Amino acid sequence: MATLKKNILFIGFGNMAKSLLNNKIKSKFNIYSVNSSNLIKPINVKNNKSQIKFDSVFLLVKPNVFNKEGYSFIKYIDKKTKVISCMAGVKVVTISRKLKTNNVVRIMPNILSLYESSHTCIFSDDKKLTNWTKINITNLFGTSFILDNENDIHKATALFGSGPAFIAKIINSYIKASKKMNLKYSDSNEPILNLFKNVLEHSKKYENLDNFIKKITSKKGTTQEGVNYLEDANIEKIMYNTFIKTYKRSKELSIEK
Ligand SMILES: NC(=O)c1ccc[n+]([C@@H]2O[C@H](COP(=O)([O-])OP(=O)(O)OC[C@H]3O[C@@H](n4cnc5c(N)ncnc54)[C@H](OP(=O)(O)O)[C@@H]3O)[C@@H](O)[C@H]2O)c1
Repeated sequence: MATLKKNILFIGFGNMAKSLLNNKIKSKFNIYSVNSSNLIKPINVKNNKSQIKFDSVFLLVKPNVFNKEGYSFIKYIDKKTKVISCMAGVKVVTISRKLKTNNVVRIMPNILSLYESSHTCIFSDDKKLTNWTKINITNLFGTSFILDNENDIHKATALFGSGPAFIAKIINSYIKASKKMNLKYSDSNEPILNLFKNVLEHSKKYENLDNFIKKITSKKGTTQEGVNYLEDANIEKIMYNTFIKTYKRSKELSIEK
């Protein structure tokens, strides 16, 4: 006999919610969504029942929406419902108080969940719920990691939640700067994109990236000149400050009402 699939409700159906809808989650659960219209819509299931019991409810609204209207989400949960928050900055205690439940876990997936390529960090005070979430939910999005303390979710937001945008920004800057060199190297951006892909793939054979750089760099040579410039401009500090700014913004969101 086929096992009954459990029901999941996505509260908020914007960019993040749509990124979570990969084939794995769709085959494992019946998924419903609700947005600001307050109408529950089935996503991957035919069901016209008016009363649906949700095993898990995902919080996928912006933090300011939750702070203002979160209390109204109580109608979707009962004491057994697992509340899985993807919101940056909003603490477990705030969610628990507003929704009057202790079954709250926070996860920080990213947009690459759609391709099962997110690295998702998880936090809850309830270890059983954390483990359940890792095995049944976040592993569907790619790889997962359980955090020991809630503050680290701010750091996971900076590195992995927002991370894809930072990496895309760096690659895009390389492409835009390459155009200014006025070298006709191709009719597309593909050679530069392949450069990123191939360095990632093949540098592994050199143990680490420092060794890989050494193999290309000769003293007082051309590559050394460029690498020195990047070091003098303190590219590592620029990256670190990018993370710190994101981390601080996530902390601010945790106290904004
Ligand atoms: N985007 C990312 O890469 C990313 C990564 C990690 C975490 N997150 C977190 O995910 C959350 C959502 O981000 P997003 O980028 O998906 O935002 P988004 O695209 O703006 O989507 C927000 C959704 O919330 C809905 N909404 C607004 N008010 C509502 C209400 N009262 N009841 C139910 N739904 C309501 C909106 O519905 P309408 O369309 O009807 O307005 C919309 O579908 C945020 O808390 C963010 O911190 C995002």
